[in-house]
Amino acid sequence: MSMPTWITERLPDMTRSQFDRWQQLFEERTGNHIGWGHRSILQAGVVRRMRELGINEHDSYLELVNRPSSNMEWARLIEYLTVRETRFFRHLPSYDTAQEFIASLLASDRTRPIEAWSVGCSTGEETWSMAMLLSQMVSRQDRVIPFTVTGTDISLEALAHARRGVYSNSRLFGLDTALTDRFFQSVGSREVSICPRLKERVCFTRVNVLNLDRAPMGNMDLIFCQNLLIYFRRWRRITIIEQLVERLAPGGLLVLGPGEISQWSHPDLEPVGCEQVLAFRKKAQTAREKLLNSFSAMKAREE
Ligand SMILES: C[S@@+](CC[C@H](N)C(=O)[O-])C[C@H]1O[C@@H](n2cnc3c(N)ncnc32)[C@H](O)[C@@H]1O
Repeated sequence: MSMPTWITERLPDMTRSQFDRWQQLFEERTGNHIGWGHRSILQAGVVRRMRELGINEHDSYLELVNRPSSNMEWARLIEYLTVRETRFFRHLPSYDTAQEFIASLLASDRTRPIEAWSVGCSTGEETWSMAMLLSQMVSRQDRVIPFTVTGTDISLEALAHARRGVYSNSRLFGLDTALTDRFFQSVGSREVSICPRLKERVCFTRVNVLNLDRAPMGNMDLIFCQNLLIYFRRWRRITIIEQLVERLAPGGLLVLGPGEISQWSHPDLEPVGCEQVLAFRKKAQTAREKLLNSFSAMKAREE
């Protein structure tokens, strides 16, 4: 049996104007910006999906994806366009900063559960790492302090993997055995699964960071958003970081990827951690609250 010609034939490269239209659509819908120099990322994903569908004209596929009824097709394509690289405890200095922060929460007399959020969680390694850290620290306390961790991403496939919590043995390379013995169980000889006790504390859901205004998360104690914003333009990074700050509880910690935003400050945030870390703690009282309080005090004096 001979193969259909669309599988064996090389599809034509995107022209500059086709690339520009794809890039514009991708950026409008996901925030990710791909320059012409990195066009192979966009082209490889689009061509792969076109092959699956048996479409060999870039313009025809673009027209299909642009149809208002093509939400499902867009969701399929996203799976081929997003960069999902991740690891457990990917950037250790960031976790050291989170550890110090959690220790400070545990040293206080708080009773409210600790709530953490992993934004752009990919296949879940970051979310599970945060949950392992919290679980270890909370279990050393002599009182019960519940915690929850939410992982969000735009990719449904990545979220399904994250929820399953099954990883190949090689993904655990370099992790402390005290950690792996406690939080993973073997699935056959080649894979491990996150233990059910940790799974009870974690949930995953789809959130596009361009629609954070619709996300129900709020009053978060700890937010990790690493290796997502690097693909965004600066003005968009700032908008998203500001929205994350709104969702932080007073005193909460925001951890970004090193170098993901430079020469930027926020009136409600104080930088924390060592120089390898890009993390900020939200002030207990925001600039707006301070202003409102001083107005009320002034008003009270006048009366
Ligand atoms: C490189 S991974 C980072 C994973 C993890 N945070 C880490 O640092 O290891 C980037 C993730 O961001 C997700 N992503 C890209 N655009 C997004 C968007 N607009 N909204 C939510 N997630 C997005 C991708 O699907 C991908 O899983």
